[in-house]
Amino acid sequence: MALSDFDLVLFGGSGDLAMRKLLPALYLRDRAQNLPPGGRIICVGRHEWSREQFVDAVNENAKPNIASAMFESVLWTSFCGRIDYVALDAGDPSSYQALVQKMRPDPAITRVFYLATPPSLFATICNNLAACGLATSNSRVVLEKPLGRDLASARQINAEVGRVFSESQIFRIDHYLGKETVQNLLALRFGNVLFEPLWRREWISDVQITIAEELGVGNRMNYYDTAGALRDMLQNHLLQLLCIVAMEPPVSASADAVRDEKLKVLRSLKRLSPQELAQNVIRGQYRSGHVDGMPVPGYRKEPGANPASRTETFVALKAEIDTWRWAGVPFFLRTGKRMADQLAEVVVRFKSVPHPIFAQPHGGYHNNSLIIRLQPDEGLQLSLMAKTPGDGMRLKPVELELDFRETFKTPRMDAYERLLLDVLRGHLTLFMRSDELEAAWEWVEPILKFWEQEEDDPIPYAAGSWGPAAASALIGRDGLQWREEALPEL
Ligand code: BG6
Repeated sequence: MALSDFDLVLFGGSGDLAMRKLLPALYLRDRAQNLPPGGRIICVGRHEWSREQFVDAVNENAKPNIASAMFESVLWTSFCGRIDYVALDAGDPSSYQALVQKMRPDPAITRVFYLATPPSLFATICNNLAACGLATSNSRVVLEKPLGRDLASARQINAEVGRVFSESQIFRIDHYLGKETVQNLLALRFGNVLFEPLWRREWISDVQITIAEELGVGNRMNYYDTAGALRDMLQNHLLQLLCIVAMEPPVSASADAVRDEKLKVLRSLKRLSPQELAQNVIRGQYRSGHVDGMPVPGYRKEPGANPASRTETFVALKAEIDTWRWAGVPFFLRTGKRMADQLAEVVVRFKSVPHPIFAQPHGGYHNNSLIIRLQPDEGLQLSLMAKTPGDGMRLKPVELELDFRETFKTPRMDAYERLLLDVLRGHLTLFMRSDELEAAWEWVEPILKFWEQEEDDPIPYAAGSWGPAAASALIGRDGLQWREEALPEL
């Protein structure tokens, strides 16, 4: 679908996200000829820069984030021609007049206000946009995370932004929903008949969802130390993945049909009792160690760190979904920084054969499992038992592999490229609705409250490991192992 002309206003336009992700993503979509000639990008920042000075900053800070194979200077120059800059104090209503001057009044031109700013500014910006007449009915607003730090603050953001924009104009970003493989998970489940009959408690033993990062907190200590892994990753990315794995088939691919089903999953998550909060949720914090062979400091020794910080950089938990489909199936969620590997995957393990008729294979029967790999190599892996060649029925686990890169040789789209196009098209399916956001916080909040009362610090783990041993004990109590623990030693 061709895009209509647009004015895309980037608040936080000179910030890290704009330079690292948003402007490079827009360049790549321009290069792919997805942007109409009348698509303009108006970056908003506090510095009193001219357009030329801002474009210099874009050259310096955004250009290096484009892969050299995708960079063409003629296209880049033409892309920069779309960019304008407005210096504005978000808190000062009078300074919005400079933005009003830049915007085209034609109602056929889509208006998008992308708020890549701290959430404390969301309400102020929306109110000021309304006051100066810029928040029209053909406008959209994009909200970057963190979308609150607990239920009350998420509700407040929803209420304040909701006073200016209607729900169908609000695009709450969770960039994991823009990842190719997350959408492939929807295709796998609802574009095939194969798995759906098996996708239930009768056949599935457990589900593991892991997002492990080798990176530490980098230069984001100010934000991260007030957030931690639960708020930064689990409340949003991991719960969204869980929703897509566990949701009922929606009646259509429309935004509300999909979001209704995801909401039902969030509302069906079993509330954790105080005893379960103590036993089924593990938090850790990295100490010094080695990642990729290089020594790295512990979290409390990172630049700008509080040496007594109690912020968790790792969380693992067991969740359950109280529905007919999923009752009794544990969903193990895990995420951490400075882990042994950079990887994001969903592992769906099926139950064992009800009655083994072949001799016990070496190492025992392996349950079938389906692995959906989001990062680093996008793909699917289905593990089966097969007969080894030769005499006798000797069985052995084998893997059926689908490597998306090999299968589809077309260039990949980064999550932000896809999500920005969806905003410009007005497609809401891959964005969180207000009730989803609140339901996710409702489930997570008791964990936060429990930790606030706890006297113990997060459990230390060595950088470059798979997190605290307590996370293995958590899954071990169900007689299971994390996938990497179950892999044969090489
Ligand atoms: C962000 C978190 O939402 O996701 C970061 O704030 C994290 O802490 C990042 O590093 C991970 O995203 P990706 O796409 O690199 O897996």
